[in-house]
Amino acid sequence: MSVIKILPDIYSVGVVDWNVRNFHGHTYTTKRGTTYNAYLIIDEKITLVDTVYGPYSAELIENIQQIIPVNKIDYIIANHVETDHSGALPAMMKLCPQAKIFGTEKCKDGLYHYYYEDWDFQVVKSGDKLKLGKRNLEFIEAPMIHWPDSMFTYCPEEALLMPNDAFGQHLATQERFADEVDPCVVWDEAAKYYGNILWPLGMVILKKIEEIKKRNLPIKIIAPSHGVIWRKDPLQIVDKYVSWAKNETLPKVVIVYESMWGATEKMARKIVEGIEKEGVSVKLFDITGSDRTEVIKEMLEARGFLFGSSTHDNGMLTTIAGFLDFIRGLKPKNRLAAVFGSYGWAAGAVKQIEDIAKETGMELALAGLQVKYMPNKGDLEGCLEFGRKFAAVIKGR
Ligand code: FEO
Repeated sequence: MSVIKILPDIYSVGVVDWNVRNFHGHTYTTKRGTTYNAYLIIDEKITLVDTVYGPYSAELIENIQQIIPVNKIDYIIANHVETDHSGALPAMMKLCPQAKIFGTEKCKDGLYHYYYEDWDFQVVKSGDKLKLGKRNLEFIEAPMIHWPDSMFTYCPEEALLMPNDAFGQHLATQERFADEVDPCVVWDEAAKYYGNILWPLGMVILKKIEEIKKRNLPIKIIAPSHGVIWRKDPLQIVDKYVSWAKNETLPKVVIVYESMWGATEKMARKIVEGIEKEGVSVKLFDITGSDRTEVIKEMLEARGFLFGSSTHDNGMLTTIAGFLDFIRGLKPKNRLAAVFGSYGWAAGAVKQIEDIAKETGMELALAGLQVKYMPNKGDLEGCLEFGRKFAAVIKGR
């Protein structure tokens, strides 16, 4: 990534990871790559806000050297321990061993347990300020957005918020600002990021946004640690986070199924027809061939979820089992669900999925629909009706 001046004496010095296709231990597919953003502030005290993933240390250092010699850095702000932002610290600290690192108590502990180094570390809390010269930085602890150590850094003189992972997107681009990129792509990746990483943390996110709004902090630029920077109407992403965190939904249904010999798939396709007849938006995914990260993005604003599986060994099939296990961790709220599936001699999948849906907090809107072996004409009419009824409930909420 080229070094870009985002404000007078403030530079984006991070790197683009064009080719990364999996993130967080293969829990997140990154088809558009990502960036690891770091920001260099030139003031009386030269300050770097966050670093980058370790394998890109040399590129970060080269970028900084285009502005100043790395050994001139006085302060490094560590907003987050996770290695995609702290991984270059060991290489950086070899070149500027005098630099003081600032972060939360949990960050201090986390960095120690990642790198086992005794760097000069100053613990900061919400409200603590750091004078750089003409500018100041203020720290806002943001625990569980999305790790216990997470922190936002705010520069009041520039109305610049650097919230690390929050408001980010896994999006590799040469452009640095959201208004320079196709908005469909930016919002697609922002939703995917929220849905797959932040969805379970809605309550914490709402409280933090409320806390910041109450303080009336002017915010002209939101510069996250992944993807593009929000400078044109930056609060639009904050408003979107509020909506997602409140689990606000649209009249839309997402159907996710796995079929052994095609019977459950036939049911699913007929259910789609029923939903369409009610004029409700619907998306259908065979989970065995779908990208789970994309499916979750589609579910983020959907009011209704339908899950289908053939019965195998008295339970559901294995790919959908893994998918539902992931959904259980995301804890979606305010969702209606129903379950369908085929069986041979002993049904089991539908009940098993219904139990998971209830345990996850979904409301079962209809009794489960089961078909023995292959659906006949009457069974398919039942599937169509099942779809219609489910759509009617979705519209009514
Ligand atoms: Fe982008 Fe939580 O690291």
